[in-house]
Amino acid sequence: MGTTIIQEFRADHQRIRGTLVRLRQAITKGDIPEVRRLLGSADGLLGSHFKFEERHLYPALTGLVGEDGVRQLIREHDSIFRGVGDLAALAAKDTWSDGERTAALDSLALIGDHPENCDDLCQYIAHLPGSEQAALLDHMQALRLQRITFSEYAVERRRT
Ligand SMILES: [Fe+2]
Repeated sequence: MGTTIIQEFRADHQRIRGTLVRLRQAITKGDIPEVRRLLGSADGLLGSHFKFEERHLYPALTGLVGEDGVRQLIREHDSIFRGVGDLAALAAKDTWSDGERTAALDSLALIGDHPENCDDLCQYIAHLPGSEQAALLDHMQALRLQRITFSEYAVERRRT
């Protein structure tokens, strides 16, 4: 039996959670090259995950969570995009002051509860008909193959 959208969606969140834990450790140590490396290696995962949510998952869930619910989810993403962008800007520096290290932790905090909060959406996905769940899985896999990065999608997102 193949995988399901719910399994793949949860697997994405587990990978994101792992990255967040390692980012927190690296930031706490002030290990800027490691922060840069972790952001670089998560770029494709984050890009395809958030593009999938905004372009495919949320529209599919509108009938279940309502338009206000979807707007709220997008607003939560706004702070995630800010957090990742600010953290990437800090990671481009050679050294950090204490204030910059604190700012990096604050940026990380904007992303920190995504895996838990977003996993809750699985309860709604489970209510979609099987054909819609299969279509969502196809969209997710197509986006992964496109290898869109978070930074690319952030630019695309600002334009629309
Ligand atoms: Fe998510």
